[in-house]
Amino acid sequence: MFQTKAGILRAFSLAFLVSVQGADAIKADHVSIYAIFAQTNRPTGEFMFELDEDEQFYVDRDKKETIWRLPEFGRAFSFDAQGGLTNMAIIKSNLDILIQRSNHTQARSEPPEVTVFTKEPVELGQPNILICYVDKFFPPMLNVTWLRNGQPVTEGFSEGVFQPNTDYTYRKFYYLPFLPSSEDFYDCKVEHWGLEKPTLTHWEAQEPVQVTEMTENVVCALGLVVGLVGIIVGTVFIIGALRSSTHNPRNQGLL
Ligand SMILES: *[C@@H]1O[C@H](CO)[C@@H](O)[C@H](O)[C@H]1NC(C)=O
Ligand SMILES: *[C@@H]1O[C@H](CO)[C@@H](O)[C@H](O)[C@H]1NC(C)=O
Repeated sequence: MFQTKAGILRAFSLAFLVSVQGADAIKADHVSIYAIFAQTNRPTGEFMFELDEDEQFYVDRDKKETIWRLPEFGRAFSFDAQGGLTNMAIIKSNLDILIQRSNHTQARSEPPEVTVFTKEPVELGQPNILICYVDKFFPPMLNVTWLRNGQPVTEGFSEGVFQPNTDYTYRKFYYLPFLPSSEDFYDCKVEHWGLEKPTLTHWEAQEPVQVTEMTENVVCALGLVVGLVGIIVGTVFIIGALRSSTHNPRNQGLL
């Protein structure tokens, strides 16, 4: 399906993780990227494809299968997981050598930045999706849980894959379909080696924007001014019209 022209050995991250990335322009205006990594901790490896920065599929080294981002992709295309597994096996053997060479020097962890937002503008009672975007972290290992009113959500959520950034860090999306309500609040809880303790990123529906008394007064005053100007301008026109009709020769002839 994809022909890859160049594989660039991107990061020998000291020990524990090796990642390779390549890019292949299918057409001038579309870019396909593949990224592979292998590491000593779980997930032990990932082989993923992106088209124009959107994830298409990945091969999971632990599950040994191709996982499509959308079920429709899996019906329209195919990708043999074995190809991904072979690539990951090669990367893994490189990793073992690098671990030896670096004398088991562990790479430094980079803590994640976490943002929570909704897919659609929020309307109370309208189904929506809460998105937890975790970015700029290394290594690609995370424990993320959703909390609703402080209690762990046990089902209904989903997640993307580890997507590589150009600076050797990773990013990942987590999704929680929900019904916005003024009573519920949510937190995205993120655990990562770069963090001393898990972070909670809060989200709750905002109150409708309050119109302040100041704004109300200004709107009222402006309305009044526009109204008065209208009356004055109208009066001037009426008087003008009456004057011109009294000076109109034809009208005078009628008098
Ligand atoms: C490798 O690490 C061990 C233990 O930290 C140390 O004793 C040894 O000297 C190191 N070897 C090299 C080649 O740096
Ligand atoms: C995730 O949770 C497991 C089990 O509690 C723990 O062993 C692991 O270190 C955690 N991983 C991260 C990245 O915090």
